[in-house]
Amino acid sequence: MHQRRLGAGGPLVSAVGLGCMGMSQSYGPGNDEESVRTLNRALDLGVTFFDTAAVYGAGANERLIGPVVRRRRSEVFLATKCGILAGSSGTPYPGAGVSSALDGSPAEITRSCDASLQRLGIDVIDLFYLHRVDPKTPIEESVGAMARLVEAGKVRYLGLSEAGPGTLRRAHEVHPISALQSEYSLWFREPEDSVLVTCRSLGIAFVPFSPLGRGFLSGHVKKGATLAEGDLRRDLPRFQGDALDHNLRLVASLEAMAERKGCTASQLALAWLLSRGEDIVPIPGTKRQTYLEINAAATAVALSADDLALLNDTFPPDAAAGERYMPAMMAWVDRA
Ligand SMILES: NC(=O)c1ccc[n+]([C@@H]2O[C@H](COP(=O)([O-])OP(=O)(O)OC[C@H]3O[C@@H](n4cnc5c(N)ncnc54)[C@H](OP(=O)(O)O)[C@@H]3O)[C@@H](O)[C@H]2O)c1
Repeated sequence: MHQRRLGAGGPLVSAVGLGCMGMSQSYGPGNDEESVRTLNRALDLGVTFFDTAAVYGAGANERLIGPVVRRRRSEVFLATKCGILAGSSGTPYPGAGVSSALDGSPAEITRSCDASLQRLGIDVIDLFYLHRVDPKTPIEESVGAMARLVEAGKVRYLGLSEAGPGTLRRAHEVHPISALQSEYSLWFREPEDSVLVTCRSLGIAFVPFSPLGRGFLSGHVKKGATLAEGDLRRDLPRFQGDALDHNLRLVASLEAMAERKGCTASQLALAWLLSRGEDIVPIPGTKRQTYLEINAAATAVALSADDLALLNDTFPPDAAAGERYMPAMMAWVDRA
């Protein structure tokens, strides 16, 4: 597995990571035994950059991956996140069946870090993200608290998620930010003209979440497919009505192109992201060994100039129809 650096002078991580969220929420029923096999298979293949969060499964995701991380601690680069409270009154947290609220206060960040360490059963978190910028707390205060966790030896590197360019700059002045984790894929290219430019000017790595468009870009979500009760995608505008029909036509082009190249649509989507720069480290999510193996092998898919031109023509920045989130979740995206 190739490696990429998280930020200027930062640590090396696998060029393709493993998103663990779907093992505990969002995309249908989980299967803990298969998830554990997937985590171990990932490490065997050199996919060592694991992504979780305190809020995933309201702590269940950290508890699930904890034993594997502990047993193979030296092999894993573990990222987790703070700042979204599960189980509080507020916005329904998508696909998790609980309400949630943002809290980026220093007290909550400190508490959340200790709780994550305990659930994971480890003594240091490799990369600690603020999951969403809390409009009630100046970013300097949130990142100040995170910096104190670095000083205390509980955290090694810091990151933000879904932060806008101005917020990222302010945060980076308080403490070096190693990575920004935000949505980025063939069907969501908005970061290219905004926050990705800022990341590059500051030497911050970009970690695309939902790099497969929440599975849509794999071609496995079909017209009329019944997504499980509670599956987040049932509520997302891109998976509904006319937008879904439009987006399925886009994915059909991707699948045709993948067939010509002898790879899968998901591999093509990941290879495109990897081609966008050495500072891009996607974290496709899966709970299955089969998908993990396919996604890891995307690093071997070489794209020619013609391939890239065709992908760019097929997926221009406004190619997909529908918003990527429902309004309540969109309100949590920082654009400052
Ligand atoms: N910072 C944030 O706010 C934020 C938001 C969303 C996600 N994330 C992180 O980013 C990670 C990845 O994003 P994501 O999970 O939302 O979306 P994703 O990686 O775009 O897609 C995940 C979905 O694709 C399916 N899939 C994966 N590989 C496949 C393949 N080769 N062929 C067919 N289907 C495949 C998975 O199926 P199965 O579930 O059946 O395996 C799952 O339903 C998450 O796990 C999480 O750690 C962060």
